Amino acid sequence: NYQGIIFDLDGVICHTDRYHFLAWKQIADQLGINFDDRINDRMRGVSRMDSLEILLEEYHGEPLTAAQKVALAEKKNQLYVGLLQNMGEADLSEEVRKTMDTLRSRGRKLAIGSSSKNTKLILKRLGLTGYFDAVSDGTNITRSKPDPEVFLCAAQYLGLCPGKCLVVEDAKAGILAAKAGGFDSAGLGEAAAFAFVTYPLQSFSDLLKLDGNR
Ligand code: G6P
Ligand code: MG
Repeated sequence: NYQGIIFDLDGVICHTDRYHFLAWKQIADQLGINFDDRINDRMRGVSRMDSLEILLEEYHGEPLTAAQKVALAEKKNQLYVGLLQNMGEADLSEEVRKTMDTLRSRGRKLAIGSSSKNTKLILKRLGLTGYFDAVSDGTNITRSKPDPEVFLCAAQYLGLCPGKCLVVEDAKAGILAAKAGGFDSAGLGEAAAFAFVTYPLQSFSDLLKLDGNR
């Protein structure tokens, strides 16, 4: 069995996706960009500044300076953090909570591996402050997924090598990051259909079967 389980946050533990979408949509409208799910999906697991670059592929106005880009990313974040105020403990599903509690009772160490710099705020809103054995997020890395840095840090914080950890992801960029770091992965949502995933999952609680069978 895996000794450590490293969870992505957005799209795995909680559903902040629609808040990211709504915040980026406002920036896109401001820039005259047609924002859709196809662009939003490419931003999954990708850092704020890298997400902005994905959005700007569709931008055909005057070239933007580095300072203007930073200002746009900051504005997106203000909108996003405003939307996060709608989130509370009720947004942590029973299924996720019970699955994690069971894995923990079986002796697994649990960690977060997220590109988000808002990770601690989101964990607080979900009532999960202090719940995980380790938290590796956008504040302790320099390269975002598909680079493996965020997961390698999480494993290191747990005191485990990658081969003893399973990464749980919903994004292609996250599955690629897991693979690049030498981790097996379990994929939810679009990541379940991705060729590089080790175990496709239909739902979060499938982790219990996976864990029990190894
Ligand atoms: C997660 C989300 C991405 C987001 C990134 C950075 O990986 O899936 O959509 O861009 O975090 O989030 P942040 O909260 O730091 O802007
Ligand atoms: Mg995700």
